[in-house]
Amino acid sequence: MRIESKTVRLRLVEPDDASFILSLRLDPKYNRFLSEVTNDVDAQRRWIERYKQDERDRTQFYFIIERLDDGSRCGTVRLYDFRQDSFCWGSWILLEENKTKTAALESTLMVYDVGFDELGFAKSHFDVRKGNEKVVKYHERMGAVRVSEDDENFYFEITKDAVDQVRVDFEKVIHKEPRKG
Ligand SMILES: CC(C)(COP(=O)(O)OP(=O)(O)OC[C@H]1O[C@@H](n2cnc3c(N)ncnc32)[C@H](O)[C@@H]1OP(=O)(O)O)[C@@H](O)C(=O)NCCC(=O)NCCS
Repeated sequence: MRIESKTVRLRLVEPDDASFILSLRLDPKYNRFLSEVTNDVDAQRRWIERYKQDERDRTQFYFIIERLDDGSRCGTVRLYDFRQDSFCWGSWILLEENKTKTAALESTLMVYDVGFDELGFAKSHFDVRKGNEKVVKYHERMGAVRVSEDDENFYFEITKDAVDQVRVDFEKVIHKEPRKG
């Protein structure tokens, strides 16, 4: 599975991505609102090898976000916890110094393309840490609804219909030519 957008693509994670993923997840710039991982590249590699079975079973898809221009890696995103009509997504990280301007919007839309169109779900659920205000706002702006909370997280849902409503606007942002001069 490989999906392309204007400036980035999603391609499935491989065991050789272990050190890249670990470097992102150990970086305090990105991991404040993510679950902790141990600093052990072999353990990370084994985790990915085990994950590849889920991929074959089509119960989980973990992607590297790559730039189209030079093929370099600029982030990660993962679809998992598949329920009756809803999939969860997360492990979403974009490298500040290597992401493209529209990588956030593009990767989000590609996740919804996979979940809704490719896998046939009608909804998506995900949680965001309460302190991660920028990301909370990001999802609400896209039409996600806060359905519950606990001490640590807000729990969100978004429907395929809600995404379809904002899709055209997002595609305009993604395809807008950069201003000259
Ligand atoms: C979460 C993460 C991947 C989001 O990526 P990001 O690039 O920071 O996303 P942003 O919120 O800056 O959004 C990107 C752009 O899209 C724009 N945008 C967002 N929603 C939009 C919308 N509905 N319509 C138009 N533009 C929109 C933003 O304004 C921003 O534009 P700018 O660059 O001109 O300011 C990144 O911040 C990250 O790696 N964080 C650390 C890990 C983490 O917390 N992950 C989430 C766990 S739940």
